[in-house]
Amino acid sequence: MLEVLFSLVFVLFIVYAQSSWVIILSWVALVVLLLPGLYSMIKGAPYIPSTKNRIEAILKLGDFGEGDRVIDIGCGDGRVIRAVANGGVGSAVGVEFSIPTYLLAKIQSKLRGKGEKVYYKDFWKMGFSEHDVIVCFLLDSSMKEFEEKIWPNLAKGTRVISNEFQMKGVETLDREGQVFLYVKK
Ligand SMILES: C[S@@+](CC[C@H](N)C(=O)[O-])C[C@H]1O[C@@H](n2cnc3c(N)ncnc32)[C@H](O)[C@@H]1O
Repeated sequence: MLEVLFSLVFVLFIVYAQSSWVIILSWVALVVLLLPGLYSMIKGAPYIPSTKNRIEAILKLGDFGEGDRVIDIGCGDGRVIRAVANGGVGSAVGVEFSIPTYLLAKIQSKLRGKGEKVYYKDFWKMGFSEHDVIVCFLLDSSMKEFEEKIWPNLAKGTRVISNEFQMKGVETLDREGQVFLYVKK
């Protein structure tokens, strides 16, 4: 979503710039910006930040403690992982693949973070053996893919907290409204 706004700026450069260098660089920036954003939207979910109520529900269901290593896959601007880190956990990590959204999360974590780490990564291409809790806010289609590809490989005891979208073939252990908790058996 954010990349759409940034892209409009580059489109204006392309349309109105006088220098061919500015036009070429604007095209390059446009492609570099748009491709990961499009991939994230299609393969994961567009950037829609969790509301305050949903973040509270995630914290309640997570009941996080010092020993928990929490990751938000597709962390957006990092608001969820910051809230998790604020409460005190073993580690709080956010991964994001859309460039502007990643930068937003990274800058905020540097400026007023509580120790959370934000990485530029595609969560479909990573392992989760170093995490006990996975938080996500994806889509029905990507949640189905998560259930098929990531869920079977998680270690026993790993918790998954999903905002809005359910894993339809996995028993829900608990829920707070539209936020769902799963535990790998
Ligand atoms: C609905 S937003 C949720 C943002 C944040 N977790 C929250 O709850 O406020 C989904 C985010 O996932 C990111 N995303 C989608 N696919 C991704 C992927 N394969 N790897 C990393 N991030 C991805 C999107 O760019 C978007 O920012």
